[in-house]
Formats: sequence, C-alpha cells, structure tokens
Amino acid sequence: MPLKHPSSATGRSQDLAVAPLFSLETGTIPRHELPDGELPPDVAYQIVHDELMLDGNARLNVATFVTTWMEPQAEKLMAECFDKNMIDKDEYPQTAELEARCVSILSNLWHAPEAAEATGCSTTGSSEAAMLGGLALKRRWQKRRQAEGKPADKPNLVMGINVQVCWEKFANYWDVEMRLVPMEGDRFTLSADEAVERCDENTIGVVAILGSTFDGAYEPVAEICKALDALQAETGLDVPVHVDGASGAMIAPFLDPDLEWDFRLPRVASINTSGHKYGLVYPGVGWVVWRDADALPGDLVFWVNYLGDNMPTFALNFSRPGAQVVGQYYNFIRLGVDGYRKVQGYARDVATRLSSRIAELGPFELLTRGDELPVFAFTLKDEIENFTAFDVSNALRERGWQVPAYTFPENRTDLAALRVVVRRGFTHDLADLLVSDLERQLPRLEAQATPVHDQTTGAAFAH
Ligand SMILES: Cc1ncc(COP(=O)(O)O)c(C=O)c1O
Repeated sequence: MPLKHPSSATGRSQDLAVAPLFSLETGTIPRHELPDGELPPDVAYQIVHDELMLDGNARLNVATFVTTWMEPQAEKLMAECFDKNMIDKDEYPQTAELEARCVSILSNLWHAPEAAEATGCSTTGSSEAAMLGGLALKRRWQKRRQAEGKPADKPNLVMGINVQVCWEKFANYWDVEMRLVPMEGDRFTLSADEAVERCDENTIGVVAILGSTFDGAYEPVAEICKALDALQAETGLDVPVHVDGASGAMIAPFLDPDLEWDFRLPRVASINTSGHKYGLVYPGVGWVVWRDADALPGDLVFWVNYLGDNMPTFALNFSRPGAQVVGQYYNFIRLGVDGYRKVQGYARDVATRLSSRIAELGPFELLTRGDELPVFAFTLKDEIENFTAFDVSNALRERGWQVPAYTFPENRTDLAALRVVVRRGFTHDLADLLVSDLERQLPRLEAQATPVHDQTTGAAFAH
C-alpha cells in the first residue's frame, strides 16, 4: 500500500511530524561522496556553516577587488531574485528591462555617442566581458581583411604584460597572438610608443587598462589613442582600442570626470567593467558596452527562439543569476552620481592616507599612492635585506589581514611588492588598525637575521 503524506486530505495523521534536529552530531558523513541518506536542514546548515568559519574574514581581505559589503536593502532585493534566471527574459521581463537600463546608464556614463541606442550586456564578470569585447574586435578585423581579399588567420592583440589573466585566456581560447609590452625600470604599465611599435596589419586592437591590477595605476588611454591616430595618418592602419575598466570604469567617471579615457575618444570601441568591483555589487556581475551598434558585428549575436520569444543574446553562458543585475540597478538608483562620488572618494581618501602612513613607517617605499584606483602597491627599500615582502604579508596574516605579496612580471621579476585594495566598507578606522598591526610586527621583522618567506613559501596569491 503506498504511503500517504501525513497532511494529504485522505490520510491525515493526528500526529505532528517533527523533524529530528541535530540528531547526527556524533555520526559521520562521507566528505567526497554523495551521502546515502538525507540530513535534517539544520544539521546540514550547521556542518557547512562551521566549515566555512575557516575562510578568511572578507572585510579584512585587502587583496580582493570584489565587493564584500552591500546595504541590507540591496541584500533583501537580491535574495528576492535568487530564483530568477537572467536568460528567461520572457518570464522575467522586468529583470530584463533593468539590465537594459543598466547598459544605458553605463553607456551614458561613458559618453557613448548613441547612448539612447546603447549596445551592451551584462556578464558574469570582467573576464566574460573581456572575451566578448575581444571577440568583437577579432570578428571586425576578420571581416575587414576578408573584404580586402587578405588573409585573416594571424590576429594579434597588443597589451601590457600587466594585463589580468583574463586576456591570456582570451588569446589562448580564441587563437589570438598576445603582443605583450614588458615592464621597463619604473614603467609598470603600457606606454603609447611601445603599443604602437607592436601594431601591424594583423592587429585586432590594443587593450588599455584603466586601473592596473598590479598597482592600481591608470594606463594613458588618451595618449595611446593619439599615437594610434598618428599611426593611421602615417600608414593607414586603423587599430581600435578596448578599455579594460574592470575597476577604473567605475572610479574615473566620479573622481576624475575630466580625464578622457572613454567613448569621448573616437578610437575607443568597447569598455568592460566589473559590476562586482567598484560597481559595488556582490560577485558576479560584469558589463561590456560598445561605442555603437557598428562596433559589435551582428553575426556574433544569436537570435534564440526561447520559450515563445525571439531574443538576441551575446554571452558565453546561457543561464545566469538575475539577482546581481537587480543589485546593480539598486545601487545605480540608490547612489546616483553623488553617492558613487562619495563612496569612491572616501575609498581614495582612505587609500592615499593609508599609503602615506605606511611610507612614514620607514622600511617601505610606495610604488603607487592610491590616487588613481584606491589601490596602492609598496615594496621594501633596497637596504632591507633581512626580511621580505612575503615576510610582511605573513606577519600581517597572524592578525587576520590578507595583504598579498607578489613579484612583478618579466623585466621586473626582481621586484616584490605588497598591494592594498581599498573598497567600500574599509574605513579610516580599519586602516589605522592595519598600520598599528604593521608597526607592532616591524620590530620582530627587523630583528630577523635572514628572510624567512619568499614567493614559494609566502602566502599564495593569484591575480
Ligand atoms: C584589470 C582587470 N581586468 C579583468 C579582471 C577580471 O575581472 P573579473 O574578476 O570580474 O572577471 C580583473 C580582476 O581583478 C582586473 O583587475
């Protein structure tokens, strides 16, 4: 006889079903296999919750660029949308509408000439956005080459060696040669001359980073565009620029409004940003916007007949959470220009004050000050030989701070630095605590006979 659910109309039991709580505390469950049976939700919750206590404290993590604090109202809205799939535009037309509004808002913010007809989309982050921006550059170049009857099988992309790993992935996944400009002396970013020198008829574009991951410095986008204008005048080569504004595209519009880095420069074809960095949303949301519809070849856009509607999609993923896009729209209307200016301005204030306090401690030398992205890198003075940047990072970890130490790439692999990312939620007070902890650890480090940690034994850090 089939069992009846206790609350079904015909088989109603007089007894109330009580779920056993915490009944498995002395039992075990396999770590790497699906358990045979079920667990009560409270027990499952407690097990996972307890294990996660070993993760670092997100607010003390000055390694990440990604948002670690949002307002409770934003969290509530996002929780209300956890079940919405971004791709179901027919089922959730209002979420789709909010995505389109966010694209228009960014398009306007970045001075696209036809912002009313904004071309762009949300992504899972800047990495996916970079792939889409890169693909559009490659396809435009291929079409032009084919139209001219020329070979289109050896595309290359010019960028600084300081690019984030997403660009290496792009080049690898889509068979594009990376033309990397190495660092030289105290130049840690791409320069206009070095970029132009590497361009030829197979160059699909130049990537300029607004806010280098290594040290927070802006690359000179306007100078790079000007040098490419001169190249075109001289040789006829028309090389577009993609701006990787993962962080800076949500800083510069508010704090450096006169800096021309965006679609005000006619050569800038596309821009990406991470909504989950200085867009101030929890991970993962990113954005890519093209200057106009012409910059995105139509044959990259798929028209999908899905659940009764015909809709355009340009993305690497299909299903994706809608909550982050809603969180982004919340931030846009909640903060507006003034709010973003205040939040980012405060972060820059904290960053520049913190960097100058660190410089005053004695053994450190600043590579950047935090006056572009609210991010700065510092190294040890040449005369310090008995401890390393990795020792400093480890010493700070003892107090819970995650301050990454890393060596710079080719040509400057001799340089080991520490980096601090100041984000929303990192206050002057926390910055003072960080300086106090650094001050407290210095006598011990200075008393060390020889270095203890290097890049192989220090805290792991990957960009
Ligand atoms: C300059 C730059 N580009 C791209 C990325 C990748 O961003 P995401 O983590 O949003 O994929 C980062 C991440 O730090 C970055 O700093």
